[in-house]
Amino acid sequence: MRAMRNIVILISGRGSNMRAIVQAAQTERWPAKISAIISNRRDAEGLRYAEEQGIPHAVVANGDYPTRAAFDAALQRTIDGFAPDLVVMAGFMRILTAPFVEHYAGRILNIHPSLLPNFPGMATHRQALAAGVRMHGATVHFVTADLDHGPIVTQVEVPVLPTDTEQSLAQRVLIQEHIVYPRAIRWFIEGKLSIEDGHVHIAVETNVR
Ligand code: GAR
Repeated sequence: MRAMRNIVILISGRGSNMRAIVQAAQTERWPAKISAIISNRRDAEGLRYAEEQGIPHAVVANGDYPTRAAFDAALQRTIDGFAPDLVVMAGFMRILTAPFVEHYAGRILNIHPSLLPNFPGMATHRQALAAGVRMHGATVHFVTADLDHGPIVTQVEVPVLPTDTEQSLAQRVLIQEHIVYPRAIRWFIEGKLSIEDGHVHIAVETNVR
C-alpha cells in the first residue's frame, strides 16, 4: 500500500475550499494527512476551523517581512517543516517568487475562480459579468511563476444567468470549486495526476475532467 501523503494547505481568508478538502480527505479516507494549514494573515477565518479540527496551523505574516523574497523564504521554511508531498493553495492571495514556485515544481496546485486563461487576478466574477461571457467557472492548475496561470488540471463551467450579480455568480462557482478541487487533489494523492515538461497527465478512467 502507498504511504500516507502529506498535504499542506495555504490560505489567506475564509478557507471554504480548505474545509472542503479536509472533509473530503476524511469522508473518502484518502491515504493522506492534512499536515498543516498555513496562513499569511493572522485574522484568516479558516484558521479557526483548523484549530477546531486539531490540525496543526501556522501564520507566516507577509507584513513581518521586508521583501517578497524574505517572506517567501520564511514561508518555504515553515511549509517544509511539515514535509509536504503536495502544497495546496486555497484562496492564498499572494504573488509568489520564482524560486519559491520552482522549489515546489510539480507538487503545488491552485484554484482560480475563472475559466483560465480568462480573467486572471482579482474580482473575476465582476470581470466575467463586465465581459458578458455566457460561461464562467473555475480552474485547478499547477502553479508556475505566472500569476493565476500554469498547466491546467481541470476546469468546471458555470453558466452566467441574466439575473446574476457578482455575489450570486461567485456563490455558484464556489459550490463547484468545492467539488473539483478535492477531486483533483485526490488524483494527485493517488498518483494519478502528474506533470511532465509542462504537460499534465491524468490517469483516470473517466471523462470528468
Ligand atoms: C476562492 O473562490 C478561490 O478560488 C479564490 O479565492 C476564493 C477563496 O475562498 N482564489 C483566487 O482568487 C486565487 N487567485 P475560500 O477561502 O473560501 O476557499
